[in-house]
Amino acid sequence: MIFKDKFVEKYRKLIDFDNYKKSVLSKYVRKSVRVNTLHFSVGEVKTILERSGWNLERIPWCNEGFFIEHESGRRDIGNTREHREGKIFSQGAPSMIPAQLMNLTAGFNILDLCAAPGGKTHHIACLMKNKGRIVANDPSSFRRKILKINMERCGVENVKFDSQKGEDYETSEMFNSILVDAPCTGSGLIKGKIARSKKLLKEWNPKITDRYARLQMKILKNCSRYLKKNGRIVYVTCSMEPEEDEILLEKFLEENKNFKLVKPKRIKGHIIKSSLKDYIKIWPHYYDTHGLFIGVIEKTH
Ligand SMILES: C[S@@+](CC[C@H](N)C(=O)[O-])C[C@H]1O[C@@H](n2cnc3c(N)ncnc32)[C@H](O)[C@@H]1O
Repeated sequence: MIFKDKFVEKYRKLIDFDNYKKSVLSKYVRKSVRVNTLHFSVGEVKTILERSGWNLERIPWCNEGFFIEHESGRRDIGNTREHREGKIFSQGAPSMIPAQLMNLTAGFNILDLCAAPGGKTHHIACLMKNKGRIVANDPSSFRRKILKINMERCGVENVKFDSQKGEDYETSEMFNSILVDAPCTGSGLIKGKIARSKKLLKEWNPKITDRYARLQMKILKNCSRYLKKNGRIVYVTCSMEPEEDEILLEKFLEENKNFKLVKPKRIKGHIIKSSLKDYIKIWPHYYDTHGLFIGVIEKTH
């Protein structure tokens, strides 16, 4: 795995690079699942999985989430009967945070703007107990198919699908809360000596970051029109680049004085390790997961 000079130079200013590199090269992403509480209890699913030889360790910030590993070594949880039957959703541990920051209640009207394959849509549905309404939008027809299969598999009933580009999204509706899990460079997915990490490192380039940042700003500005007063936008990327994350939100807040920043506090009583004070920025070496950035903003008027 080759880390370009410019990459090293940039990342050294952001984190303890030696620690980061060591972890990325030596450890794979920890697998995790979230129980589908729309139709099953955490206790029953945990017992079923344990009987089949899976070791589960609860994720501190999600009561329904577990790090999971099979006693026989690396077996794929996505290929199990429990997964097929919609008892679990395979989801990275940091991705179990955003829905919890949306201030959801059962009757809400929610927009999930970049929804496929639907891990977070499902989590939103669970927190809303299949009540209210979720518009799950994604412009990719291929990914939308997987999103629909996942929602069906898990018995999500309060979802409507849409297929627009976020930057052009148009609707006559207003939403209580919006999730923008934006398309991004994906540099937080560099973890483990696998083909994807090598590809991401090879393609890493400041010009691509800037291109994504421009698209992300257009998406954010456009959807902010459809948010009700006091509503939240939870903005997420799996990029570690400040231009796509904290710099972008700071710029948005500077230009949109009707929004304020909400600093995430403890989640389920747990303080999430973050490289930033005002945002959640989880680096891959913190918990041996993918990296994720989460920023929360609220419409004041
Ligand atoms: C990080 S993934 C979303 C993951 C999803 N939220 C989940 O939890 O399973 C980003 C998504 O953005 C979609 N996307 C790409 N370009 C987009 C655009 N211009 N507007 C909205 N969504 C876009 C991609 O198809 C992709 O499914």
